[in-house]
Amino acid sequence: MSESIEHIVVTGGAGFIGSNFVHWVLDNKPAVRVSVLDALTYAGNLENLEGCDPDRMTFVHGDICDADLVDSLFAEADACVHFAAESHNDNSISDPSPFLKTNVYGTFTLLEAARKHGMRFHHVSTDEVYGDLALDDPARFTEDSPYKPSSPYSSSKAASDHLVRAWHRTYGVPITISNCSNNYGPRQHIEKFIPRQVTNIISGLRPKLYGDGKNIRDWIHTEDHSSAVWTILEKGRLGETYLIGADGERSNIDVLQAILTAMGSNPDDFDWVKDRPGHDRRYAIDSSKLRKELGWEPLHTSFSEGLAETIEWYRNNPAWWADAKRVTEDKYKALGQ
Ligand code: NAD
Ligand code: DAU
Repeated sequence: MSESIEHIVVTGGAGFIGSNFVHWVLDNKPAVRVSVLDALTYAGNLENLEGCDPDRMTFVHGDICDADLVDSLFAEADACVHFAAESHNDNSISDPSPFLKTNVYGTFTLLEAARKHGMRFHHVSTDEVYGDLALDDPARFTEDSPYKPSSPYSSSKAASDHLVRAWHRTYGVPITISNCSNNYGPRQHIEKFIPRQVTNIISGLRPKLYGDGKNIRDWIHTEDHSSAVWTILEKGRLGETYLIGADGERSNIDVLQAILTAMGSNPDDFDWVKDRPGHDRRYAIDSSKLRKELGWEPLHTSFSEGLAETIEWYRNNPAWWADAKRVTEDKYKALGQ
């Protein structure tokens, strides 16, 4: 499959995970060219693409809901890897509308162009489509877990997964889907849990923990997500779904106290704040299908090392996040979070 992939469209390539994927492809796949399609919403940042070879990466500023633009890009490429989304649960609870537009209608627009051009299409999705697990349940999500999304964000991603599968079954569009757990690493928007707490501490603000802090997330370094997505694009069976995870289950309070300790603060120096409505209790991924069938393994196996590098990146790049900090904290303050 990879021999024929020379030019890919990456939607959402100026965001956290999309930009990591673009850098990963340029660094690891020298024969591949990338066209990034990104609307540069509040979450997109062109600085995330700094250092990309201009002979191999073209940036196109535009919306995935723009059918004519998508059509013209797909006419010239071999595959599309679709990261673009509204990605933050708390925002989806405050205002679901852009989530429906980008995550559902945007994915539909891309699928229609993929149908027209017979385009290889990889859809990047989330483990949140499966809802949550109980804290005391030994089970983990598998590709056979039933869909049970809780939030406007996760239900819009679930809808997009269903569209992708339908376009495969009905029209034969050559698709794969991946559902990944919580990513961490440099360039993640500071609205998200880890960078919010790190930048709070750097800014002299107290970290904020929702609810009882016992909720569990299954953390994976974003570079491991990127290598997994490429592996599926290259070797995945068409029509199949692969779960991506790196056995990184941790409670929120454990992660927060690890951050406080790593940054030289007292581990109890944080505020308990109002819980997120409908807050999923636990996510956990069984990634054996991806590992056994496609031979993928994560490289970032030490969470404490990955976390220390991530903290260092936010310390060294205040200009990247300073402008967004006040706006983001004002939004949280209004929500009591
Ligand atoms: P992000 O919010 O950091 O980036 C999203 C990017 O999409 C931004 O660059 C934004 O400008 C762009 N975008 C938004 N709407 C657009 C539109 N209509 N047209 C074109 N571009 C648009 O998100 P992220 O955390 O990097 O997540 C990327 C993808 O990975 C999403 O599909 C998300 O559901 C999925 N995912 C994320 C995680 C995670 O932990 N962050 C885990 C699993 C899956
Ligand atoms: O599981 C994959 C998903 O992970 C992705 O699909 C989403 O795009 C991504 O945002 C992430 O969703 P979460 O809701 O799990 O991530 P978030 O960083 O918002 O929160 C992680 C946990 O931390 C969650 O249990 C809520 C909690 N939290 C979050 C913030 C921002 C806090 O306790 N305090 C906070 O300030």
